[in-house]
Amino acid sequence: MSSPTVVLLPGDGVGPEVAREARLVLELVAPDVAVEERLIGAAAIRAAGDPLPGETLAACRDATAVLKGPVGDPEFDAADVRPEQGLLRLRGALDAYANLRPSVWGDVDLLVVRELVGGLYFGASGVRDDGTVFDTCEYHPSQVERVARRAFALAQTRRGALTSIDKANVLETSRMWRRVVNEIAPEFPDVSVEHMLVDNAAMQLATTPQQFDVIVTENMFGDILSDLAAAVTGGLGLAPSASLSDSGPGIFEPVHGSAPDIAGRGIANPTAMLRSTALLLEHGLGRTAEAQALVRAVEHALATSPTSDLGGSASTAEFGAVVREQLALTTA
Ligand code: IPM
Ligand code: MG
Repeated sequence: MSSPTVVLLPGDGVGPEVAREARLVLELVAPDVAVEERLIGAAAIRAAGDPLPGETLAACRDATAVLKGPVGDPEFDAADVRPEQGLLRLRGALDAYANLRPSVWGDVDLLVVRELVGGLYFGASGVRDDGTVFDTCEYHPSQVERVARRAFALAQTRRGALTSIDKANVLETSRMWRRVVNEIAPEFPDVSVEHMLVDNAAMQLATTPQQFDVIVTENMFGDILSDLAAAVTGGLGLAPSASLSDSGPGIFEPVHGSAPDIAGRGIANPTAMLRSTALLLEHGLGRTAEAQALVRAVEHALATSPTSDLGGSASTAEFGAVVREQLALTTA
């Protein structure tokens, strides 16, 4: 078998700064893996006029896994061609439908499974003649089925409790979502299922996040609730994600955005990017021991050398160096 390839997409804002640390870590723990950098987002619009150039997509399709920094730049907020479109197109093209967003903090250990390639972010949108603007939310039952199956299977490996979040008191798509989840439930008799309305779920997450094991929800609810889950478990700087398909390469990326307010200052917390690298090692390359070593090394750096968002003074590069020193010590 040829050696694995990781396509690294540094992205925008703090992306290149945190991606550099991820690259150095990968080179240390997986020296046989070829890392190829490509452009996405605002950087790609500036260089090629396209937030997902054909060359980037082709490299991602051929890769074993994709490691991606955040995208987004206020310069393009009102533009027709926007950085985020590159990310949505990449997720769609790789059919990376199951987005795993774990949050572990104190007595909280929850996993948001967000449907990633359907719903409002992928539905028809436009402007009518009278000026009305619309976005549409559509789901086919098969899209719900496959992500729900993933979530059930993940719950089986954890505490066996699945919470499906929807807005079934209002939305047609949510009523179908609920029905499909209930239909699948008997296949997983060891998993308990609870349905929760999204507004209530937001309150429960903010007040008693300990109650959740695995959450499964549609694209936009998952986008919003995963930021909330990150906020109550140490902040966005810590939250990683894995976006998996059934066959092709997965995309591993932090939950946070490009943080243009602190970009270029070398102070961004690289934890979410490094934890995404650990998810890549585990789910993308099947290297569980290296993934665990990295997770522990990041814990060590968080405890001894935190960045300024966590009240410390370490720079992005200093934090990364502590992680690598610890890795060298523990994996030597
Ligand atoms: C995320 C981000 C993206 C999303 C944006 C940048 C399109 O917020 O990964 O959560 O909404 O999916
Ligand atoms: Mg988001």
